[in-house]
Amino acid sequence: MTMSDVGPLHDLPEWVEPPRPPEFHPRGGNSWVISRYADVSTALRHPGVEAEEPEKAIHALAERTGAAFPYFELQLRCFLFSTNPPWHAKARRFIRQAVRQIEQALSLPVSGEIADELLAATPRGVEIDAMPCLCDDFPDSVMARGFGVDKDALAEVSRRTTALFNSLKRQLPLRVVRDYEAQAEHLAGLLDRTMRGTPTLDAIRAAGRQDGEFTDAEIGALLAFLVLASTDTASTLLGNTLRLFGRHPEIVAAIRDEPDLLRTGLDELFRFGAPIRRLALRMTTEEVEIGGRVIPEGSRLLLDAERAHFDPAAYPDPGKVDLRRGGPPSLAFGGGAHTCVGMLLGRQIAATFLARLVERCEISLTDAPADWSAADLTRRLRSLPIIIQDHAPQAPSTARKETTT
Ligand code: HEM
Repeated sequence: MTMSDVGPLHDLPEWVEPPRPPEFHPRGGNSWVISRYADVSTALRHPGVEAEEPEKAIHALAERTGAAFPYFELQLRCFLFSTNPPWHAKARRFIRQAVRQIEQALSLPVSGEIADELLAATPRGVEIDAMPCLCDDFPDSVMARGFGVDKDALAEVSRRTTALFNSLKRQLPLRVVRDYEAQAEHLAGLLDRTMRGTPTLDAIRAAGRQDGEFTDAEIGALLAFLVLASTDTASTLLGNTLRLFGRHPEIVAAIRDEPDLLRTGLDELFRFGAPIRRLALRMTTEEVEIGGRVIPEGSRLLLDAERAHFDPAAYPDPGKVDLRRGGPPSLAFGGGAHTCVGMLLGRQIAATFLARLVERCEISLTDAPADWSAADLTRRLRSLPIIIQDHAPQAPSTARKETTT
């Protein structure tokens, strides 16, 4: 199958390859690549598949060398999607109630006001980098308001947690693990200073301490993960979608004609601009059959959600953005036991910002080529130079336009 067989993928980075049946990955240390939509969905829900736990490798390294990495190990254990029951179930319950507290502190009008203020303060007619100015700033501001903390403090927690999260990508030599341990210790101090003392955070911490369920350090590390999970993903999605809107003003025009399309077609925008390319590594705990292939016990599964999103068997003509598409739910929020806890809030953040943007602004991209980040776990723009102008509303057109790329 060639690229042209799966539709016009010209809006995607050239690295997106058509999905294939499960394949053994000879250089991946006993890994299998799963890339068809149906196979990724099966793997996410298969009882013989669980999350790989990188904390175990660091713990083994500590035992082998006689070193200790308590801060780093704790932070790794609090990256929920790399954990399994019973800790995963207990920590997920805590995070769920923390998200509920944040949702209570936020309401649609609050998020809308934040979007309005941000867009009003954005200079018109000059080139700006939309990644820091809009895409990072909006989710950071919303989450900071939800927690009741200062936005810059929250951004610093996010930045430092991201640095530790990046450790998951490779095998770590002892020297590097020592460095991560120092970074994790610094993060713990930062969390102690900044992520407490507001009504929302006090309520979250009190619930976590109840019945001695979590120590203060565990609560802090779980909060750091929550900050990372909620801000980086949303800003990445906004960047990818702004670029799509800039390249395809007809999508913006269709939403202006029929604003409800943004709500009903939101999952299509998440499919097209999904931030997470590869879900956290999974391991088989028994021999499993996925997509007609028998995969032995103890294999690592690389779940390629990005290629699954362009699987013509799940999404006919997958290179086309069709806001009226009725296909299967996207994998942008994962699936199975690790499905995103903040899916509703994430959708709300995206929908609120995009609705305000479409209503008020015209976006033009500059001629600069897309500046994709080198990170292979996410599809994130490092920068997005754009020019914003005010949108002058006209009388609504009666003709409905088709939304295509
Ligand atoms: C655009 C927004 C978002 C996207 C695209 C997104 C995507 C995802 C994905 C793909 C996963 C599963 C990872 C895996 O299985 O390997 C996940 C997990 C998670 N997300 Fe989100 N997310 C978003 C927003 C949020 C928000 C706003 C919150 C919290 C307020 C949040 C909290 C979490 C948590 C706690 C998990 C771990 C769940 C578990 O492992 O049990 N996310 N997210």
